[in-house]
Amino acid sequence: MWASIVESLRRRRCSPHVRLAEVGVAKGMKIADVGAGYGFFAFPAAEVVGDEGLVYAIEPDPKRAAEMTKDAEEEGVKNLKVLEAGAEDLSRIATGDVDIAMSMSSFHHFVDHRKALLEMKRIVKPGGLVYLRDIKPGRVFKHGSRSDEFRRTVSHELPNAEFEEDPHYIAARFRA
Ligand SMILES: C[S@@+](CC[C@H](N)C(=O)[O-])C[C@H]1O[C@@H](n2cnc3c(N)ncnc32)[C@H](O)[C@@H]1O
Repeated sequence: MWASIVESLRRRRCSPHVRLAEVGVAKGMKIADVGAGYGFFAFPAAEVVGDEGLVYAIEPDPKRAAEMTKDAEEEGVKNLKVLEAGAEDLSRIATGDVDIAMSMSSFHHFVDHRKALLEMKRIVKPGGLVYLRDIKPGRVFKHGSRSDEFRRTVSHELPNAEFEEDPHYIAARFRA
């Protein structure tokens, strides 16, 4: 209940569809949303990719994963597959299976960043995209990824990743 109020306030501030278009999510694609939470991006992504596409909503917290499964059933969303897993073990997804592996505001939660990045890279097809966007600690967010650490950790596993940042967010794009 509280989560859905927070999500609807957030939706008014930032349209998930606009963000997904910036990332490059499009009709027919296979997407992995790693650390999907309650599905703020995963459900809109399922709408965008349509019946010929698929979204894996990957979330280690059983409560959040169960909530997404329930919502998908209730809303008849058939192209969203919830996987209860952490970013460090995406073994239920085949190598080269997805067009985009994205992580929205979840990177700072990952337990083993190296493993998580290698897994995200593994599941993306050649020419596909690993996209990571995280909050930065500061006046607005109390926690998140520090810019220098984020850049260092990501560049180590995903050389040639391109970064963009503003005062509150940092993002990286890596073409496989
Ligand atoms: C701030 S929420 C963001 C959720 C969603 N991406 C969004 O934008 O609304 C961070 C999520 O990362 C999840 N998380 C925690 N540890 C994780 C891990 N090791 N791998 C993947 N996700 C993780 C949390 O359970 C939580 O749902």
